[in-house]
Amino acid sequence: MLASALCAAVTGRAETGHDAWLHYAPLQPAAAKCYRALPATTLSLGETLVLNTAQAELVRGVKGMLGKTLRIAVSAPIENAIVIGTVRQLRDKVPALHITEGLRGDGFWLTGGEVRGFRCIIITGASDRGVLYGVFAFLSHIARQEDVFHLDELQQPSAPIRWANQWDNLDGTIERGYAGRSIFFENGGVRPNLTRVSEYGRLLASVGINGCNVNNVNADLHFLDPDFIPQLARIAEAFRPWGVQLGVAVDMSLPKTAGGLDTFDPLDGRVANWWEKKFDEVSRAIPDFGGVVVKADSEGRLGPSFYGRSPADAANVIARALKPHAGVVFYRAFVYDHHLDWNNLKNDRAKAAYDIFHPLDGKFDDNVIIQIKYGPIDFQVREPVSPLLGGLEHTNTAIELQITQEYTGQQRHTCFLVPMWKKILDFDLRVGGRPTAVKQIVAGNSSHRPIGGYTGVVNVGLDQDWLGNHLAMANLFGFGRLAWNPDLTANAIVEEWTKLTFGNDPAVVQTISRIQLDSWKAYESYTGVLGLQTLTNILGSHYGPGPESQEHNGWGQWIRADHSGVGMDRTIATGTGFVGQYFSDVQTIYESLSKTPDDLVLFFHHVPYTYKLHSGKTVIQTIYDSHYTGAEKTKQFVSQWKSLYRRVDDDRFHDVLAQLTYQSGHAIVWRDAINDWFHQISGVSDEHGRVGDHPHRIEAESMELEGYIPVDVTPWESASGGKAVVCVQAPQPCSAKYRFRGAKGTYDLDVEYFDQNNGVSKYRVFVGNQLIGEWLADSSLPAAVPNGDSSTRRHITGVALRPGDELRIEGFPDAAEAAPLDYVETYPK
Ligand code: GCU
Repeated sequence: MLASALCAAVTGRAETGHDAWLHYAPLQPAAAKCYRALPATTLSLGETLVLNTAQAELVRGVKGMLGKTLRIAVSAPIENAIVIGTVRQLRDKVPALHITEGLRGDGFWLTGGEVRGFRCIIITGASDRGVLYGVFAFLSHIARQEDVFHLDELQQPSAPIRWANQWDNLDGTIERGYAGRSIFFENGGVRPNLTRVSEYGRLLASVGINGCNVNNVNADLHFLDPDFIPQLARIAEAFRPWGVQLGVAVDMSLPKTAGGLDTFDPLDGRVANWWEKKFDEVSRAIPDFGGVVVKADSEGRLGPSFYGRSPADAANVIARALKPHAGVVFYRAFVYDHHLDWNNLKNDRAKAAYDIFHPLDGKFDDNVIIQIKYGPIDFQVREPVSPLLGGLEHTNTAIELQITQEYTGQQRHTCFLVPMWKKILDFDLRVGGRPTAVKQIVAGNSSHRPIGGYTGVVNVGLDQDWLGNHLAMANLFGFGRLAWNPDLTANAIVEEWTKLTFGNDPAVVQTISRIQLDSWKAYESYTGVLGLQTLTNILGSHYGPGPESQEHNGWGQWIRADHSGVGMDRTIATGTGFVGQYFSDVQTIYESLSKTPDDLVLFFHHVPYTYKLHSGKTVIQTIYDSHYTGAEKTKQFVSQWKSLYRRVDDDRFHDVLAQLTYQSGHAIVWRDAINDWFHQISGVSDEHGRVGDHPHRIEAESMELEGYIPVDVTPWESASGGKAVVCVQAPQPCSAKYRFRGAKGTYDLDVEYFDQNNGVSKYRVFVGNQLIGEWLADSSLPAAVPNGDSSTRRHITGVALRPGDELRIEGFPDAAEAAPLDYVETYPK
């Protein structure tokens, strides 16, 4: 163990996170010895692009981990070899070998056998892509120090559709992207240098992802313009060696808005003709074009309803044009009215997808896939399974998961989503009263609709670490692994990811796995318990707290909180009737208040704050308590991570430490905002007296201010006491000071301030004349004003204080950022 800790510390290369789980770090000499008998040669039985990639990857991985360069054999082996090739090639070239019959699609088989009298390791697949996946699996075994000499491993993906979606815009920005600019586009065109795209293709392929829609579902209208198609072809070319097919998002109105017709009516023959010609043109440039994703009649996008047509009419007209080119249409079920009347208690956004798509079941062509978000609302921290997943028995479906953490902390918070996805995929929708897990539905097993599977919104960016947070990469990895095999446990996935990313030191594997596995529940408990959904500001960046924003608008993410109770009644008997969209066995659970699990109770029922849950606690006390335990948990993540000092490389150690430390501060912002808000609206006190009582806290507005002035913060609950102080005498600095009243001792000090994205203020903290802290507010949080998005804290440890000491904070404003401050807290060490 000691050796591995040292090894982690001295590898010497800068760890930017760019290699992600394809680290191929040199194995310890003792571990490497176990692979001494690995053949020194590799033979590829074919010469295709993907097989060449597979062989090059094999050479690269073995070289990285074992320091050994495999020789490339050009014909039959003359010594032991690692042989790669498709099943067909093996049958042709090594007829004596008994080849398994069971391989289909992208499946692979790792085995051993004699080839011309030599003992060989054989990596084979039904297709070239299968062989490539087999190579990645083989290398993963070595990275995790597993036996590769007695392999007989046949793996078959659970579903054929395993696609990434990127929401990139042509100007280089990314909708809901948190890791820099687009790897695909800049300035209205495709980037000249697509190195990152091919590296992304490699990452995707390594976890079995075989397609990628590259642009925002809110699609640019010029994406299929004749002069743009050759640029798209360059992206396809960068992906092709990795077996990743290119897809794009298209807008339904293209025939009119970009195509010169006076209509985009899907039932108009000219429109059908336009799409046909368009895809002929696309396919000439990109022969393996995968297909398109369509967002229509949703959030302001034009769609078939403009002509009184249905989503089936719209999807089919495009599908028919793609059919000769073997392309598919992902038609998104995310269709709803965002101008719903919130006064009407029967209105319910959750019902929209099922209401619209269920009547069309069976009317979609067989190359249409209905792409359905996992829950009926929108990627919330917890939702029930979308009933539409059970409601389309004669239609191909794909489940849409969100890897980019839009509503789950935007990669500034660690939130490992595989446990949530597992819950969704394992959920039994009881279609027709039979056991029907979601994973069976999307695989097409329950309805014999074979082209289904998984789409994941990823949104990697140009940042070296892809997602802006090393730990967040486990979500991309986990998505791929689950799409391949949804029966894998969250535990198995996170262990595998950790070993590949950070090495095999058991302390590292256990600690990181623990943090990851606890992180979704922790995030949920300080952002949206009991099925309330993520109580973020839904009208803003979807990041910090803003519970009030859920209500009183047309978006339909209502939680129906008032003075007497909270939760949305979605029952058949007294509510919106949403529960009626499930099959009867599931209805029985959600229709009944006593049968609904606590973690979804407020999604389905409106109850008084004093309603007692299965846990025995009241709703309101559960809200209060969970926000405290959730915030506390994030503090533990910091100490757990600190225990890995010098067990993981310094670069990533410090990156993750900074991220988890920030998260533990922001969890307190969330805790206080949500608890204060519920305290105010319910009028019920916290049994433990914590809510609204902060004995260690001094509000900035109550300090002696020079230059600083108090301002109201909106929403009020996102700043302590509803106020901040801002320095409006730039370029002059301002100060806020107070006299310390506690006992003599050593303290930790937290300064809560607001780090906006429109300036880089400077702060200095003094005790008397002694400078004890100085920093710049230079991170990129998503707000240009003081609020729950920009609220952040500076932690200063080990400060000696005596009663009467003067604590002074100086703020130096910059540009539009007025060095805002919220409060200071001092804790005895
Ligand atoms: C969410 C997200 C949007 C996105 C939409 C979609 O509402 O906030 O940015 O466009 O989902 O999935 O289409």
